[in-house]
Amino acid sequence: MKVTVVGTGYVGLVTGACLSEMGNHVVCLDVDERKIRILNEGGIPIHEPGLEEIVRRNVAAGRLQFTTDIPMAVAHGTLQFIGVGTPPDEDGSADLQYVLAAARNIGRYMTDHKVIVDKSTVPVGTAAKVREAVREVLAERGVDIEFSVVSNPEFLKEGAAVEDCMRPDRIVVGADDERAVLLMRALYTPFMRNHDRLLVMDLPSAEFTKYAANAMLATRISFMNELSRLAEKVGADIESVRKGIGSDPRIGTHFLYAGTGYGGSCFPKDVKALIHTGRENGMHLEVLEAVESVNDRQKLVLVDKIVARYGEDLAGRTFALWGLAFKPNTDDMREAPSRVIVDALLARGARVRAYDPVAMDEARRVMGELQGLEFVASQAEALAGADALVLVTEWKEFRNPDFDGIKAALKQPVIFDGRNLYDPAYMKSLGFEYRAIGRAG
Ligand code: NAD
Ligand code: UGA
Repeated sequence: MKVTVVGTGYVGLVTGACLSEMGNHVVCLDVDERKIRILNEGGIPIHEPGLEEIVRRNVAAGRLQFTTDIPMAVAHGTLQFIGVGTPPDEDGSADLQYVLAAARNIGRYMTDHKVIVDKSTVPVGTAAKVREAVREVLAERGVDIEFSVVSNPEFLKEGAAVEDCMRPDRIVVGADDERAVLLMRALYTPFMRNHDRLLVMDLPSAEFTKYAANAMLATRISFMNELSRLAEKVGADIESVRKGIGSDPRIGTHFLYAGTGYGGSCFPKDVKALIHTGRENGMHLEVLEAVESVNDRQKLVLVDKIVARYGEDLAGRTFALWGLAFKPNTDDMREAPSRVIVDALLARGARVRAYDPVAMDEARRVMGELQGLEFVASQAEALAGADALVLVTEWKEFRNPDFDGIKAALKQPVIFDGRNLYDPAYMKSLGFEYRAIGRAG
């Protein structure tokens, strides 16, 4: 099938690459010339495991191309995916300007029937707005061309995006016309393996499903983060509690890890946007407001522990910080807890030496030059002469580090672990003062 993907970011690039892998002919469009140039020179603008290989293979096969040429991209695809950003507006609502601009471009250049597929995360009612935007442009052109609008939210996780896209749990399609559903089913059949994973529903339900999924996952995390604080007070171990409840299939084992609060480009903005939708409809979404405020507090949990240990004034202290990306296997720094932690430490006069296995360039780009912050090239460089190690992102290379080396490099053997990577008893036996999340010590 011929597919155009508008927006070549995390979602657009991964979607375009995976669709081309199944034999479709895909054109990925972006307004960011730098991004398209990198892709056309054989590079990949983001770190995502497995993506480079799949892009390279399909570009070589002539099934995948990248362009900034809007008329060409619109002419290409029968299916026009919109995967542009929907960042939070000042009031927390999803900013739809990029989605509507993309829709208008489609309307401006289309000459035959198109299925316009909203893949971006958008509030209920956006499909109707997209339809209206396209109709207006067609009316300005004085033409009457049929088109469909479909909602097909994306559920991939960064760091596992290719795997999630190639082997989805479910594919949600919101639509109100049969022709579009038929095309969507044909497009996605190769991804379904042995089960029908296509869930067809009305447009508002599909749009709502995406927010409901992210809000539920964010709620689980904030719930566990709040319990981790209580666990510390009452002398329980949140890791034992996590296993104890996760083994109940009604609860399940995923997304129960207490940590430094959820970050990334989606949970924070989608929780905000859903709260805003509630407000617009005269509802106060109390659970989600609590989820958000618990998360804001949790991003500072390591700083609270550091202050409890050393006092408010951290002048003269240096902290080794391991892990800057908001989660492992990505270089994405959007809403990363590390940024809040670094700012809070610097504000108290501390120095921070930060290391991340892949996000160094991106961290430099988004954090810029900060007085007292130094980006270093290795775990060891971060540690040398520091007062303590602060572990923020659970990269694999931090899971079994050289503890003797850490002990020798630090002024005192102190670790603040925001991801509960180590066994407290083992750390004690090695002579570390070990402070983790929701655990005794
Ligand atoms: P992103 O910022 O990485 O990419 C968006 C791209 O769209 C950018 O490259 C931008 O230049 C481009 N763009 C903006 N306006 C354009 C236009 N008019 N024409 C062509 N290109 C245009 O964003 P992302 O992380 O891929 O997220 C995209 C959407 O998908 C958001 O709504 C997000 O909530 C949702 N989503 C993201 C993820 C994720 O893991 N990142 C997962 C599921 C859903
Ligand atoms: C999340 C969802 O998992 C995807 O299904 C969704 O498509 C995506 O948002 C989106 O809409 O963009 P992502 O943000 O890439 O994906 O990463 P997650 O693995 O969900 O992690 C989000 C944050 O939650 C991270 O900061 C992570 O450290 C934190 N987290 C996750 C926890 O603190 N505890 C957990 O148990 C799980």
